[in-house]
Formats: sequence, structure tokens, C-alpha cells
Amino acid sequence: MGNDKPRIREVNLTREESPSVRTIRLYDPRTSNATPGQFAMLWVPDSGEVPIAISGTQGEYSEFTIKRRGEITAEIHELEAGDKIGVRGPYGVGFSRPEGPSVIVGGGYGVAPLRYFHQRHSRDVSLETLVGAATAAELLFVDQFNPQIVSTDDGSKGHHGFITEVLEDFLAQSDFEMIYTAGPEPMMAKVYQICKTRGLKLEASLERIMKCGVGLCGSCLIDGFRVCKDGPVVDLDRLDGFSEFGRWTRTSSGKKERV
Ligand SMILES: Cc1cc2nc3c(=O)[nH]c(=O)nc-3n(C[C@H](O)[C@H](O)[C@H](O)COP(=O)(O)OP(=O)(O)OC[C@H]3O[C@@H](n4cnc5c(N)ncnc54)[C@H](O)[C@@H]3O)c2cc1C
Ligand code: FES
Repeated sequence: MGNDKPRIREVNLTREESPSVRTIRLYDPRTSNATPGQFAMLWVPDSGEVPIAISGTQGEYSEFTIKRRGEITAEIHELEAGDKIGVRGPYGVGFSRPEGPSVIVGGGYGVAPLRYFHQRHSRDVSLETLVGAATAAELLFVDQFNPQIVSTDDGSKGHHGFITEVLEDFLAQSDFEMIYTAGPEPMMAKVYQICKTRGLKLEASLERIMKCGVGLCGSCLIDGFRVCKDGPVVDLDRLDGFSEFGRWTRTSSGKKERV
């Protein structure tokens, strides 16, 4: 059976991570072998499919960490151990293996693929982590990242403001070559600008509306690039070529709107 046919899996456990975010764990050997940054299409019968990053693995089990947004993610939040869900994938291009001391910058539920990245690589290289969220209650995986800096938009924990406001000072304190980032696009656009100024390498995980997940439908295009198949993780050179990055995205009907 290829990766493209939905596999029906039983939910093994669910866990509340924050008021709006839950993790589900499934026995799924295929996604448990994925590269961090890759994603799966999760299918809720009678509702639909959504792209979700792999947020961690344990043996042949995979975890997905999901923010409640619209209909399908709300349905996933209702799942309990023993319920069934469909999985396709893993899909896309993930993060490269870090070769030296690197920095992780995550925001909101964007930290999900970075948690898996950290789980895979933190024993081999030094990974310093900066994490931001809207409120203290929405900060994710703090006990696992043990972050150097946290920020909250409302000032309820750590730096009061955006994580990118403290990134430059943090980078000035040590020699890093590489930043890995995932989160809201305005945050990643700022990280991109900082990397350009400081001559640092960067990999960012992009989000666009995805319908097929396998490069056929065109719904995820950004300046002609298929985010589902050739991304979602892209490097700085690739971002240089995107006029839409940090500025424009598309709705599910294809209409262009501000990020
Ligand atoms: C590669 C990839 C990995 C992702 N990983 C995660 C993850 O690990 N955890 C997580 O919580 N979410 C993740 N997402 C986002 C998730 O797919 C959307 O939140 C979900 O599809 C919303 O579906 P819905 O039916 O609940 O809401 P809808 O009713 O479809 O949408 C609710 C709102 O979310 C917006 N939206 C819908 N789909 C996307 C999308 N693909 N990207 C950006 N905005 C969208 C809509 O425009 C709308 O404003 C990922 C998206 C991509 C492309
Ligand atoms: S989601 Fe269909 S081409 Fe990317």
C-alpha cells in the first residue's frame, strides 16, 4: 500500500496541550519514520482532510498537535482513545539535519514540527530554542524545549511582545550558523530579514491551503512553487525568490489575501 491511500488508524491517546491545542497519538509506522517538518493528511470521515505536521514519534507511534480552528480541527479535538481517523503521508520535504549549534524559533502551534525536530536532534547538536505564543497558557512544549527565551503577546510570561523582538540580541551573544523556524508567517518573515542581515542560514516551514497534499491540485502554490510537494520546508535562497512570502496567501477558494 502506498502512502497516498488513507490508512484507518485508532487513536491511542489524546492530550490537552493548551486551551486551544490537543495532541493525538496514533500507531502509524509510516509517519513514525518521517523527517521532522514533513506532514500527513488527516482525514475525518464525513468532515474532510487537513494537513498536519508530525509533532513527535515514539516507536511506531506518531503524534500530531492540533489547534482548533474550523470544522475539521474541531472534530479532531472531539476524538477520544479508541476512535478512528484516516492518515495519508508522510508528505513533503522536511528540515535538514543540523550540522552545528543552531537556533529554533517557534510561534503558536508552529512549534509542532519543531518539537519533533528537537526530539530527533537535540542529543547530537546544541539546539537553543526561542518560543512565542499569544498567552502563557498557549505556550507549547516548554518542558520539552526548555527554551532560552519565551515571549507572550499579552506579557503573561517572558518577554512582553513578539519573540522576534529579542532574537537579534540573543543571536549577538553566540555563534550560530543556522535557524530553523515555524509559526505565523509575519514572524517567519521577520526571522528571514534578521538572517539576511546577519548572514545566517535559515529553514522555514510554510503553510498554504492544501487540498491534495501531493502536488496535483495547485491550491498550495506560492509564486508557482508547490508547498505540499517541494516544501513545506524551504531555505533562505528559496524564500528570496518568493514575492508573496510574508505578504500574500490564498483562501480555500483561491482568492488572494494579506498574510
Ligand atoms: C504543511 C502544513 C502543516 C500544518 N501543521 C499543522 C499542525 O501541526 N497543527 C495545526 O494545528 N495546524 C497545522 N496546519 C494548519 C491546519 O492544516 C489548518 O489549521 C486546518 O487545515 C484548518 O482546518 P479546519 O477545517 O479546522 O478549518 P477551516 O474552516 O478550513 O479554516 C479555519 C481557518 O484556518 C485557515 N486555514 C485553513 N487551512 C489552512 C492552512 N493549510 N494553512 C493556513 N491556514 C489555513 C482558513 O483560511 C481559516 O481562516 C498545517 C498546515 C500545513 C499546510
Ligand atoms: S495541495 Fe494540491 S498541489 Fe499542493
